[in-house]
Amino acid sequence: MLLIGKDVTFAIQAEQILICSACFKINIETLIMAQEIFDKVNNILTEIKNAQPSGAEELEQFRIKYLGAKNILKPLFGEIRNIPNERKKEFGQLVNSVKQTAEARWEALKNQAADAEESAEANQLDVTAPGEPLDIGSRHPVSIVMNRIVETFSRIGFTVAQDREIEDDWHNFTALNTPEDHPARDMQDTYYLLHDTEKLLRTHTSSVQIRTMEQQKPPIRAIFPGRVYRNETISARAHCQFHQVEGLYIDENVSFADLKQTIEYFAKEMFGHNTKIRLRPSFFPFTEPSAEVDISCFICGGDGCNVCKYTSWVEIGGCGMVDPNVLENCGIDAQKYTGFAFGMGVERIAMLKYRINDIRLLFENDVRFLKQFTSAL
Ligand code: DAH
Repeated sequence: MLLIGKDVTFAIQAEQILICSACFKINIETLIMAQEIFDKVNNILTEIKNAQPSGAEELEQFRIKYLGAKNILKPLFGEIRNIPNERKKEFGQLVNSVKQTAEARWEALKNQAADAEESAEANQLDVTAPGEPLDIGSRHPVSIVMNRIVETFSRIGFTVAQDREIEDDWHNFTALNTPEDHPARDMQDTYYLLHDTEKLLRTHTSSVQIRTMEQQKPPIRAIFPGRVYRNETISARAHCQFHQVEGLYIDENVSFADLKQTIEYFAKEMFGHNTKIRLRPSFFPFTEPSAEVDISCFICGGDGCNVCKYTSWVEIGGCGMVDPNVLENCGIDAQKYTGFAFGMGVERIAMLKYRINDIRLLFENDVRFLKQFTSAL
């Protein structure tokens, strides 16, 4: 009786039977050798399943041993020639499964190691340590002041309009009653565009008055906040760019008293209810009469300090009744309509309110400086 099967142990025990069965030329040595190879492979399989490398180095050794270029599985594939034909398929499957087990085990061990590392890191985390502060920005003081001006005027019915910063001569000068040879042009050092000298960076937001009057019919009641540019030497008091808020009110029977009332309302809202205003006669080409707007010094209350230079008044802008020529330039009937306009510098007001003594600080954007002005005015 011949016993060739998986259970070679049994076959070996049945040695006598095999030997007796001389008609079948069974090479018992081949069988034994084959079994040894099977055992070897099975041992490797168990070894892989039980492997528990600790640390990166042992893990790497595992990889080299079972999956590296010269891994111990490789020679096993060659052993197939020593396996009897009936078991070659079985052997091939076994060796393949060892290879797959090694790969799967390697993946699992690697993940295990990564998890361990992560939790080790997590263990080092000191949950009682103070958190890193979030670097939150803050509103720029110029924006705070500008918003406050807009809000104050919107409460008495002024709408807001904005327009371009690159202007033409007409809207920045000529329509504002400032022709080419007018000496008032020298008051504002203008930046002209190099490639298009017809165009300039607006020197004031009064240009938006013109654009608004060209587009709308009276009554007009609007303010125009925006950035303006002048070719000034930068110093503690002056900058080549700054912000203005311009105001315009055109209707029938608008008087200087309306202008004065409006300015007074604004000054009290902005600087406190004890604030007084003073309109000092002045000159602007686009208004007639024109005035400079002073407010009583809200810092010393009139006692005299270095902000008001001991005059108890501080200047915040200019104003006047819109010159009839300006109305006519925009196609508005100057017989029927009158109006007032005013303009003020936002940086100037921010510097007064926040006691900032150098305008350059407002343009350097140092957050340590800017963060001091988070509170609403
Ligand atoms: N545009 C003037 C300037 O930039 C400010 C100004 C003065 C505006 C009087 C006005 C005004 O509307 O009536 O210096």
